[in-house]
Amino acid sequence: MQPRSPLAAIQLFHKELMAVRRDLHANPEMGFQEVRTSGIVAGALAALGIEVHRGIGKTGVVGVIKGQRTDSGKMIGLRADMDALPIHEENAAQYCSTVPGMMHACGHDGHTTILLGTAKYLMQNRNFNGTAILIFQPAEEGLGGAKAMVEDGLFERFPCDAIYALHNWPALPAGVIGINPGPMMAASDKFEITIQGHGGHGAHPYQTIDPIVVAANMVTALQTIVSRNVHPLEAAVLSFGHIHAGAATAASVIPGQAKLVGTVRTFSDEVQKVVEARMRALIESIAQGYGASAEFNYLRNYPATINTASCADFVADVATDLFGADRVVRNLTPSMGSEDFSFMLKKVPGAYFRLGQGGAEDGRFLHNPKFDFNDDVIPAGSATFAALVERSMPL
Ligand code: NI
Repeated sequence: MQPRSPLAAIQLFHKELMAVRRDLHANPEMGFQEVRTSGIVAGALAALGIEVHRGIGKTGVVGVIKGQRTDSGKMIGLRADMDALPIHEENAAQYCSTVPGMMHACGHDGHTTILLGTAKYLMQNRNFNGTAILIFQPAEEGLGGAKAMVEDGLFERFPCDAIYALHNWPALPAGVIGINPGPMMAASDKFEITIQGHGGHGAHPYQTIDPIVVAANMVTALQTIVSRNVHPLEAAVLSFGHIHAGAATAASVIPGQAKLVGTVRTFSDEVQKVVEARMRALIESIAQGYGASAEFNYLRNYPATINTASCADFVADVATDLFGADRVVRNLTPSMGSEDFSFMLKKVPGAYFRLGQGGAEDGRFLHNPKFDFNDDVIPAGSATFAALVERSMPL
């Protein structure tokens, strides 16, 4: 007889899922190059008798599981990401990365495994009235694999009524679910400023237009956008990540050009617009004031990840029933990081939640060379996904 709780049922194949996770961990692949990984996913789904669609968003894979009944006409999507990062692993585990300079430092190996666990449980039980769509997406790390799947017609082919995704979170204890009924992750924008001055001898600066002085003024002035132009109860971050001018060996040369690169993080379209507009005005006027010119490129990369409130409350309710109210954080502080599941949430209502796994206390946060996904939380993740399907589409 099958246990009734998805958690108890999935715990029965926890070891098998751990082996899958460790194999994926040992064999990381970068965004849109998840050939081996997507092959393993497609093979595992097919072996369970699940309908498999490949090549959506290049290396993306979709599995379709029909419930015992489908007359509700409902369709629920679940998403996992599959890609690794260009980081050299510093762990000593037997299953650590076999690829120098590349590792699963964000736990996407765990997310893929969790969704495979959900697939096995759902296919074995099919305790729902509707269709579950299992979305294994490529290239979450900066390359917009979710966007590629959406543009490839993901939701035209599989018109989901709601979609859900999870991400492990080292800052929460293992197995605790965290969610927020609004913003979860920020929009991630990139900017580049190229200042054109007039180079010359460091001993004769009056004969030059010094782009380093212009750049220094811009770095300082742009800090005031967040403190003076954005509402104090709204969130925005503006950070410079790169500044370049001249050469380290040229102490007495004033260069002709300076370049600044950075990121802007916001939660609302309105704040995003204000920050970009104020940046443009300050950059142009500062350059002009010094007799220089500046080129400003502002690239909107990932939109903000904003949960649909009713879907977020639903996740919290489902998790409370599975794990108890003391294991669910309903008002998790949003992160200024970003996530391309936002492209899916722009098309379909849904929610993105955190699966606590511990580790932050030892500095092993996401994207750290000592990060490792915590295998103990696989059943909790798989069971939450499975319960979301069963509870959204009851028999
Ligand atoms: Ni990640």
